[in-house]
Amino acid sequence: METTLPGKYVSESAINDQTAIVFPNDLNAYGTLFGGRVLEMADQVAAVVAHRHSGRDCVTLAIDSVRFLAPARRGDILVFQAAVNRVWRTSMEVGLRALVEDYKTLERKHIFSAYFTFVAMDEQFRPVAVCAVVPVTDEEKRRYEEAEGRRERRLGK
Ligand SMILES: CC(C)(COP(=O)(O)OP(=O)(O)OC[C@H]1O[C@@H](n2cnc3c(N)ncnc32)[C@H](O)[C@@H]1OP(=O)(O)O)[C@@H](O)C(=O)NCCC(=O)NCCS
Repeated sequence: METTLPGKYVSESAINDQTAIVFPNDLNAYGTLFGGRVLEMADQVAAVVAHRHSGRDCVTLAIDSVRFLAPARRGDILVFQAAVNRVWRTSMEVGLRALVEDYKTLERKHIFSAYFTFVAMDEQFRPVAVCAVVPVTDEEKRRYEEAEGRRERRLGK
């Protein structure tokens, strides 16, 4: 079931350019960016998108399709991009990717992707309905359509 509350545009809550620098305490035993650290940073960025969209407290229900596509190294600039793909009633899917940016050439490489499911919570900390999301661009519409299949797989339908 989908929400009946009036919608907000994807762009109203999307994050296109959240940057971070890879510091020494972000590294694993091999000297590259630790995957758990990326997940933590990603969860925080995705949570901001969910909070902004819903105007509610939100909790992470699930993270799936996690892909570590390429390593990042000490001193690298990370760029996070995240947006609400679709809203159902109390839950929403936020898609996120992280890139490494070469600050000399401004070239970017995709290093990480995941989907986050957040649930909005009311003052009693019970799930509460979220306003709809309105996709506008072709990419936003494609993500919106594809999100339904992912939700069905998550729910084992
Ligand atoms: C999130 C939480 C409140 C959901 O509780 P619940 O009893 O499953 O609540 P509901 O049955 O009302 O489901 C809430 C929403 O989650 C969705 N949901 C449940 N299981 C799901 C799954 N496996 N995949 C995707 N969505 C799921 C439901 O469909 C519903 O969404 P909808 O209203 O849009 O249809 C509960 O699981 C929780 O507190 N989890 C811990 C969260 C947490 O501590 N996160 C880490 C810190 S932020």
